[in-house]
Amino acid sequence: MNKESSRGCFIALEGGEGTGKSTQAALLVDALANRGIEAELTREPGGTPGAEAIRALLLDPPEGGWNARAEALLFAAARSDHVERRIKPALEAGRWVVCDRFVDSSRAYQGGAGGLGDDAIANLHGFGSEGLRPDLTVLIEVSPDKVAERLSERDADGSDAIGGRSAAYHARVAESFAALANEDPAQFVRIDGDASPEAVHMQILAAIEHLIAERQQC
Ligand code: TMP
Repeated sequence: MNKESSRGCFIALEGGEGTGKSTQAALLVDALANRGIEAELTREPGGTPGAEAIRALLLDPPEGGWNARAEALLFAAARSDHVERRIKPALEAGRWVVCDRFVDSSRAYQGGAGGLGDDAIANLHGFGSEGLRPDLTVLIEVSPDKVAERLSERDADGSDAIGGRSAAYHARVAESFAALANEDPAQFVRIDGDASPEAVHMQILAAIEHLIAERQQC
């Protein structure tokens, strides 16, 4: 088998706060295992010791926080380490990678909601991670009322520096994700996240069925 044909598939799960990505990522990895596909479950920011250290700096920043460009650079630096040390080696070894957030989070949060623009994020990603894209980006979208309900349970003990931003910021994040998905329907699949976790899982499985069928050809 040549190297190209044995590369694993790279799937990113994206969405705003409280959309159920982490639950769905874990369900997906289990479902793939049941089909005989070994997949690594990972997340951003994080996934390597260095990137997890940067995660702590981003979510619990020093006094005064980061300016918008420094924040984008830190996300890009964490991603660079994650791609180089974990994602690429796994894909090259034929394993799948299921990642809870990837560069489209930087596009929606820092580029869209944060106002840096898409070109700035693309430039950072080109330098940091050689522009690596997932084979498929699964965008889970949840109505604002449902998100508020879920976050009041999840963040009862307080939210982090980014999750705790204004409702207007998070509305811009959701709009940015929707615009990215509209612009690139070949890259994104949009999932109705208001449904039960089981129903959302079934939608995601249906959306990646073609990758499972051609699984050695990502
Ligand atoms: P998490 O809580 O989903 O793990 O994500 C941590 C926070 O970081 C969440 O508020 C989204 C934010 N984030 C960005 O702003 N840009 C990024 O590139 C990534 C990966 C996450």
